[in-house]
Amino acid sequence: MLILGIESSCDETAVAVVKDGTTIISNIVLSQVDLHQKYGGVVPEIASRAHLNTVLPILQEALDIAQCDLRDIDAIAVVQGPGLVGSLLIGITVAKSIRLTHSIPMMAVNHLHAHIYASFIDHQEISFPLVALVVSGGHTDLFYMPKHCTYEWLGKTYDDAAGEAFDKVGKILGLGYPAGPEIDRLAKQGNPNAIKFPRPYLEEYGFDFSFSGLKTSAVYYLKKHPLGLEAVNLEDICASFQQAVVDVLVKKTIDAAIQKKVQGIIVSGGVAANSHLRNQMTKAAQKHNLSLWIPSPKLCTDNAAMVAAAGYYQIQAGYPYAGYDMNAVANLAPG
Ligand code: KG4
Ligand code: ZN
Repeated sequence: MLILGIESSCDETAVAVVKDGTTIISNIVLSQVDLHQKYGGVVPEIASRAHLNTVLPILQEALDIAQCDLRDIDAIAVVQGPGLVGSLLIGITVAKSIRLTHSIPMMAVNHLHAHIYASFIDHQEISFPLVALVVSGGHTDLFYMPKHCTYEWLGKTYDDAAGEAFDKVGKILGLGYPAGPEIDRLAKQGNPNAIKFPRPYLEEYGFDFSFSGLKTSAVYYLKKHPLGLEAVNLEDICASFQQAVVDVLVKKTIDAAIQKKVQGIIVSGGVAANSHLRNQMTKAAQKHNLSLWIPSPKLCTDNAAMVAAAGYYQIQAGYPYAGYDMNAVANLAPG
């Protein structure tokens, strides 16, 4: 079964062709990061206009690399939300147009579920029940999955997502946008115990997260210790901040796995590309005798192969196809 995946929820325009849910035939991702960099974050109007300009050439490229045309495609999988409504609408309109012109069924996919299904591309041995952490620029969510395409939403962030915290702290440090990869790189030369940033584990949060206090604490630290004026080391700040985020993500995910009595964990989303998170989560999973499945870094960040994978499993699970009345839902619920 060949599935055409389409992703345009934020600042990547992506189209992929995936066979039987797990074999990538083509996977084209065009990042708009250069367009948004000077504003220090994604500008929605610029994002949707850029998707409009690039989506059709990218669709053609994905088909060319897969050496097929639309007549070979069995189903379309497109992200319905969450995301920027103007951006989502570009991908959805392309999907609906293909559905209309080629009579190909269309499956609506939740962007967060797509992140989880990126893991199934790289790890076909995944078994249920499991706990999944989706940790990205817009989301920090924990799910319990008793079986394919069935989600119990265990926790969310009260405020900033983990990736957002990386990006905001990085902006203050002058590291550009998005700052996650740069903090990851600099942290390798820093001391993670140099600065004691807070870990919001508080009992009252349960499996929910809160990263804005950590971000504020980094802001205050930098006000007191301006970079360049004293012996404050940029690498130490990056390493200490990253350690605080990673500690929280690892502890809550392992706690959820223990409480739900699962044997395996999926970690996915852009921040799952973070090398320290990958290392620490691996150690913690080993310690608790849990299997750990993380997609390769390229599949952690936004792409359309993960959308096609999620669409494939939804079809297998008997989800209904979407009609022409399917609309973009900016705050689509994760559950
Ligand atoms: O999943 P994604 O591509 O888009 C959303 O759905 O949000 O995630 C993007 C986020 C950004 O905040 C970026 O800074 C973060 O993922 N990110 C990282 C790394 N690579 C990407 N954060 C920390 N370390 C990384 N290596
Ligand atoms: Zn994403």
